[in-house]
Amino acid sequence: MEKVYITTPIYYVNANPHIGHAYTSIAADVLARHFRQKGDEVFFLTGTDEHGAKIAQAAEKNGKQPKEFVDEMSAKFEQLSEKLNLSNDAFIRTTDDRHIKIAQDFLQEIYDNGFIYKKSYKGFYCIACEEYKTEKDLEDGCCPIHKTKAEVQEEENWFFKLSSFQEELIDLIESDQIKIKPQGRKNEILGKLRLGLDDVSFSRENVEWSFSIPWDETQTVYVWGDALVNYFSACEIFKKREFWPPTIHLVGRDIIWFHAVIWPAMLLAAKKSLFKEILVNGYLTSGGQKMSKTLGNVIDPLQVISDYSVDTLRFYLLRDVPYGEDGDATLERIKERHNNDLAAGLGNLAQRVLSMVKRYEIEKDEKNGLNQEEIDKIHQLTEKYKFQEALSGIWELIARVNKNIAEFEPWNLAKEGKTDQLQEFLSKSYWQVLDIADLINPFLPETSEEIKKQAQSLELEPIFKKVE
Ligand code: MSP
Repeated sequence: MEKVYITTPIYYVNANPHIGHAYTSIAADVLARHFRQKGDEVFFLTGTDEHGAKIAQAAEKNGKQPKEFVDEMSAKFEQLSEKLNLSNDAFIRTTDDRHIKIAQDFLQEIYDNGFIYKKSYKGFYCIACEEYKTEKDLEDGCCPIHKTKAEVQEEENWFFKLSSFQEELIDLIESDQIKIKPQGRKNEILGKLRLGLDDVSFSRENVEWSFSIPWDETQTVYVWGDALVNYFSACEIFKKREFWPPTIHLVGRDIIWFHAVIWPAMLLAAKKSLFKEILVNGYLTSGGQKMSKTLGNVIDPLQVISDYSVDTLRFYLLRDVPYGEDGDATLERIKERHNNDLAAGLGNLAQRVLSMVKRYEIEKDEKNGLNQEEIDKIHQLTEKYKFQEALSGIWELIARVNKNIAEFEPWNLAKEGKTDQLQEFLSKSYWQVLDIADLINPFLPETSEEIKKQAQSLELEPIFKKVE
């Protein structure tokens, strides 16, 4: 039994959550459930990122005080976690006083160890990214991700000596002491690291909506210097110290740099142990553009859950796009997946088998469902983050069991009074359905439980309804 600590990014509360947030969280939940099913001890963390200029601006636009605004918005993200059926063990907020205290101590350690110094700086700043950009990062003066104009900012700030860690980071990543998955993302980070590292401004003179630098009351902490520490502070706040350091950080590709470069450098500077792995997801796009709150082209996950089911959303997101790559999400595809794979595929198989077990009063023989190798193969795919392949593998099994039934025609055996054969065949089909329920459990936990419940009680109801 191992200790596994899994995190999602903490989400900015500047606007309502969208399907892109649901995506990373669902993948993290699948892993958390997978490891628990395997018998490991899991600490699964998610939460919200609530300080900084971007949030303060959003509060102002909404005519609210920042604190009132972030309380309301964070509650929406927490509600989404529940609606997504996430099995997170804790939900962290960066405005929590306990987090603030720990983040201040953490930064103080970096300062005491000599990795923070003061200098003045002028640069282009993208508020949506909360990041300084160089001129070559911009397209026509705009951030290529958010299409918004980067603002020139000039200040005297406290700088983190990121540049001191270039060689060490290259070694750690090259040797997989810090793993970055998929491989393409690792190469991309190594390529950028080899170009050299600039120090990062870790404080702000004019951003009030944050907390102060512990050794300088006149400056506040840069939002990323605050946010990344959540992974550490959560272990203290929620009394999960034994889980430190993190096993897997799940992040979108827009924030790899912060997690693969800045975060380990902060840990090295504060002399803390390093996390093991970063798993990077691609963008969910709409018409080829990243879905984002700033761009306003988003699918509402709550709407999908209410029109279909939570498991439809979970299934769709991990089945349609190979994890790690970008992919377009459309309402049409969601419907197709729901009707074909869930209602007609899985739902129909469970109904068919269980209703025959009930009608012919089948006794369940000793458990003999799917082959163990077939089951292990799915688990291995999940563990390698090949969610799409794991799901298509499960659906091949579903199709095979369905096909066996069509070919074997158990109803004819019943008519012909061949009760022994009928018994043997349907008992096996029953166990196969239960094995499938176990296999889908990390992905579709509600459906898995429902199938198990109906298999037990034989009080049968359709598991998915077709949507017209
Ligand atoms: N607050 C920072 C993260 C701090 S972690 C210490 C942040 N927040 S965010 O709300 O803007 O985005 C968080 C994550 O949401 C992204 O990295 C990504 O995982 C996910 N996604 C947001 N939009 C997405 C898509 N359109 N597609 C896929 N994932 C997306 O960045």
